[in-house]
Amino acid sequence: MCAQRRFFITTFGCQMNAYDSWRLATLLEKNGWQAAESRSQADFVFLNTCSIREKAALKVLAHLRELAPLKKQNPSLIVGVGGCVAEQEGIALYDKAPTVDLVVGPRRLAEIPYLLDSWDKDCSPIILAGDPPQEAVFNPQNVYPLYPQDDKTNSPLSAFITIMEGCNNFCAYCVVPYLRGREVSRPEADILAEAKSLLAKGTREITLLGQNVNSYDPDPGAKASQSGSPFSRLLARVAALEGLWRLRFTTSHPKDLDPSLTRLYGTLPKLMPHIHLPLQAGSDKVLSKMGRSYTKAHYLSLIDALRKSCPQIAITTDIIVGFPGETEEDFQETLAILESIQFDSIFSFKYSDRPNTKANNLPNKLPEEEKSRRLSLIIELQKEISRKLNMALIGSHQEVLVYGHGREPNQLAGRTGNFKIVHFPGQKELIGELVTVSITNSGPVTLKGEIIDALNPTLRKSQRA
Ligand code: SAH
Ligand code: SF4
Ligand code: F3S
Repeated sequence: MCAQRRFFITTFGCQMNAYDSWRLATLLEKNGWQAAESRSQADFVFLNTCSIREKAALKVLAHLRELAPLKKQNPSLIVGVGGCVAEQEGIALYDKAPTVDLVVGPRRLAEIPYLLDSWDKDCSPIILAGDPPQEAVFNPQNVYPLYPQDDKTNSPLSAFITIMEGCNNFCAYCVVPYLRGREVSRPEADILAEAKSLLAKGTREITLLGQNVNSYDPDPGAKASQSGSPFSRLLARVAALEGLWRLRFTTSHPKDLDPSLTRLYGTLPKLMPHIHLPLQAGSDKVLSKMGRSYTKAHYLSLIDALRKSCPQIAITTDIIVGFPGETEEDFQETLAILESIQFDSIFSFKYSDRPNTKANNLPNKLPEEEKSRRLSLIIELQKEISRKLNMALIGSHQEVLVYGHGREPNQLAGRTGNFKIVHFPGQKELIGELVTVSITNSGPVTLKGEIIDALNPTLRKSQRA
């Protein structure tokens, strides 16, 4: 192994995984590791995986096959698999892909630097899954901190903070509760400390993360003596932090979208006017079989309340087509609700059987071709809706946080408050700044524009603090 050990992480799946990868990189750097530029230059290659649909899970095996020749060239290369496939497969992953040395479920991530320090390749593979042992949780000598707060890495302009892990909902199609465990919320003080540390180092946008972010509740036994939900109170406290420009969260479940949260959209200027609120299906029968615990009418009432509280709010969603037993009429109801709500954008998926889930054993599975047909109809319809909504923005002035370079030279890219991507000509000095952009053109996914107000960056920063 070379003097400075190098790691390379590839991330699949949701933002929770993105955050976990960032957290692992931070822990490794604190422990003397350095990021490698490619897998071939790394001493430790880590795949942070997703198992939400079968296709995602299969991807991992393909990557592991690609790693086999690298491992032959460099027998001391350590190959680790983390995330939800690691949790799901455990030792079985080693049987499928003997390239693997380390299989670590999402709740055991913080132990990786410790394992690598005392690595003995003759003892591999090592498999860690489920909840961490109690002594590891409570004895800081035993384990690296789960959430590194005094990290030395640069903090990103736009950062994620996981505020709760796991899920208690057990939607009939979903594997997440089996892989991420039950809901556990981080103490508010920890979250605020992490946010402050990021802001002190230059982060300007924070996205609070959880599978059900709005069921955040660090003290579930406590009687509700304060007003609003624990999540709404947390949002207000994070929004009050100095240096923060923009606050977002994802993903929220409709069942936990209470009026105290809806109201914040009208009263908390730093809370950006966008919500991702997965609907999944437009038919009450399918929603009930999915175990989503809301009806179409309830979902529509939430949309109404959100739009009343914040008329410019962008609403995005997830849709599954071809859930077992979904009839043509059910599917038409999904198309109809997309028409009536007019989401800004959607993620749509073909139902995929997942191990252990309730839906796995349901009768009346749909043929692949029928699921594909329904998916293309959904995509077509939504493309038109998104195109129309984006066209309506032409001529408007949008405040854009500049994330980085666009695809073309001298082009910058950023996001509007309601999460639309905008490309516009501009100099790189504006990266990290808020600029006002006049929208000149649009497509179904991105907008184009021209800067009409880019104050001197230093001036703008002092105005914003
Ligand atoms: N916790 C979030 C979403 C988690 S997974 C929520 O409850 O809203 C992201 C999306 O993947 C889900 O919203 C759902 O649309 C989709 N998904 C989950 N399991 C799936 C499956 N078995 N087949 C197809 N899509 C699925
Ligand atoms: Fe999966 Fe449902 Fe939990 Fe979301 S709420 S993670 S879809 S079980
Ligand atoms: Fe995938 Fe696990 Fe996230 S299954 S979507 S990585 S919680």
